[in-house]
Amino acid sequence: MPHLPLRIVTIFGTRPEAVKMAPVILELQKHPGEFEPVVVVTAQHRSMLDQILRGFRITPDHDLNIMQPGQTLTEITSRVLTGLKPLLEDLSPEAVLVQGDTTTVFAASLASFYAYGGGKQIAVGHVEAGLRTDNKVNPYPEEMNRRLTTCLADIHFAPTAQAKRNLLADGVEEGCVYITGNTVIDALLYAAKELPPAETDQPSNLRTILVTAHRRENWGDPMRSLCGAISQLAEEFADVQVLFAMHKSPVVREVVRAELEGKERIALIEPPDYFDFVRYMRDAYLILTDSGGVQEEAPSLGKPVLVMRTTTERPEGVAAGTAKLVGTGTRDIFREAGELLSSESAYNAMAHAVNPYGDGRSSERIVAALRHYFGITSIRPQDFQP
Ligand code: UD1
Repeated sequence: MPHLPLRIVTIFGTRPEAVKMAPVILELQKHPGEFEPVVVVTAQHRSMLDQILRGFRITPDHDLNIMQPGQTLTEITSRVLTGLKPLLEDLSPEAVLVQGDTTTVFAASLASFYAYGGGKQIAVGHVEAGLRTDNKVNPYPEEMNRRLTTCLADIHFAPTAQAKRNLLADGVEEGCVYITGNTVIDALLYAAKELPPAETDQPSNLRTILVTAHRRENWGDPMRSLCGAISQLAEEFADVQVLFAMHKSPVVREVVRAELEGKERIALIEPPDYFDFVRYMRDAYLILTDSGGVQEEAPSLGKPVLVMRTTTERPEGVAAGTAKLVGTGTRDIFREAGELLSSESAYNAMAHAVNPYGDGRSSERIVAALRHYFGITSIRPQDFQP
């Protein structure tokens, strides 16, 4: 039996990591005799991170505050490594938990590995492990971040059976893989409880297309081309309004503003806080996105999603029929979105609620898996099944 409570450091830096890690932190806090959760933020995304933390009422214990305008991947990586070294030596935790595929995740896993000292290795637990596109540079750098994190991790929390198969194919030992579902659904249910009911809250009778786009492989021409489709959709469909939630990245904003600012029935808005964003998704008619998390949330809300990318590491939504990969070409996006706006049967075929990613109990399973991994219990938690 290990010495309790086990110190578990959660490290995250961007908005999606915060959303998906928050339920795990709240769950760890329910077991004070067994776990001592310590919350570390790198603040790779300063402003977008703070919104989420407030919403989930989580106060970080340590804040590396690494964000710089126009930060490069090299700068993020080296600043996370340098910032975490003394902190991890000082905290000497039993485990570090990271979530997803950002550069914070990879760098924090590497920092935990480097912190080996005095014969004690920090166990790295990877939440949302095993997602793959099998294309090294798409998404860039996320696919490589998650592969490298798999190499560095000791405990793998796979959201789906497919993710577990990917891990086993990479040579990960089966006993260290737990199928937990995705904590994004835990967060979604938490947020949904706080929302006003849909019928009292409809801002207008126009059909809303909600748009987000920020990925690095879409910077430049693909971003211009997807904006072209959005502009055409607003022109062609008089009963449609576009809500474009702009990422904070200046590289993204410059193009989006140049292509769409001032156009009729197109609103470019600041990134809403997570709770507002869930409400926008719920009230949208259709969602166009290149985000990973939105691909997981929208199926649960029964909203059709057109994924403006050429690859996806989330095939489950596509298999369930609520998400479709449409690329970034103006004509392709216009055609696919146009069909959903014109044909009720095409729309209804996609607009059904399914939950391939979770049942709202993923953070419970993650904590149960930690209890099992560290020998607090001999009972292995049951795998999540949709
Ligand atoms: C990062 C992640 C990506 C994740 C996305 C979610 C990496 C390399 N990429 O992409 O996997 O999907 O977050 O949003 O880890 N900025 C601000 N304020 C903020 C956030 C960003 O000003 O709160 C600006 C900064 O100028 C920064 C730029 O946005 O330089 C880009 O941010 P960065 O963290 O480098 O990459 P993202 O594209 O946000």
